Amino acid sequence: MSDHITVANQGPIRIVRMNRPDKKNALTSTMYAAMADALESANGHRDIRCVVIAGLPGAFSAGNDLAEFSQAATSGAGLGSSVIRFLHALARSERPLVAAVQGLAVGVGTTMLLHCDHVVASADVRFSTPFVNLGLVPEAASSLLAPRLMGHQRAFELLVMGRPLDAAAALTCGLVNAVVPPADVEVEAMKAAHHIAALPAEAVAASRRLMRGSPDEVVAHIDEEVRLFKQRLQSAEAQAAFKAFLDRKR
Ligand code: COA
Repeated sequence: MSDHITVANQGPIRIVRMNRPDKKNALTSTMYAAMADALESANGHRDIRCVVIAGLPGAFSAGNDLAEFSQAATSGAGLGSSVIRFLHALARSERPLVAAVQGLAVGVGTTMLLHCDHVVASADVRFSTPFVNLGLVPEAASSLLAPRLMGHQRAFELLVMGRPLDAAAALTCGLVNAVVPPADVEVEAMKAAHHIAALPAEAVAASRRLMRGSPDEVVAHIDEEVRLFKQRLQSAEAQAAFKAFLDRKR
């Protein structure tokens, strides 16, 4: 368990909350491990019927902690094992995933939503995936799932050109189901989660499997992205981008 991730079960709903306000919910390896634990253990928990992933007002997540990326780049490591475990746990989740997104959703803060079944966003949301600007490649199977969801051109604009999506654009391209005022995001996400949890659980699981197909294809794609990501982390382009971010307030 990490102080920066809280996990609470409310009846049939598990709420996994990213809670690192001073760093806008930038995700560390400890946080990924706690989120992976929460998702994996929900699969074996008969009473949990839906998982809600939430952040904080103003910050769903600023993405991977860039200090950890910088360390990985210097040491020659790739994405850490807990990041990979979390990404696999998203792809293999047997429980429907609902997200409550407010404010910033950067990098994996956006790409994890491609694994969710229902996404409620605040009107002030801003989705951005600056992977290529950082000298990196997209992750979390986003290079497979985003083009499927929104078409190649829109996915290219998001994932490669790094142009952010606001709430209206995210609604149009199907990334989110509903846009509501920030104060209503969690209420609406919980309503959706309770709706799902009240349905016949086996029929939900079977329908979800039919719609998603085998998770093996998605996991294989994640692993290919991880392989290229490791190469990109070592690149001069990436190292210069991390340094620029970490030095910007000095
Ligand atoms: N990794 C590590 N620390 C991060 C972070 C990240 N991804 N995102 C934000 N932070 C930290 C900042 O360094 C700052 O810490 P400090 O107060 O100790 O200096 C704190 O969170 C607040 O961030 P700040 O930049 O002051 O807030 P902002 O509202 O001006 O900007 C962002 C917010 C998210 C736009 C900006 O912080 C940013 O661009 N972060 C990097 C996002 C990113 O590239 N993520 C990786 C995607 S692959």
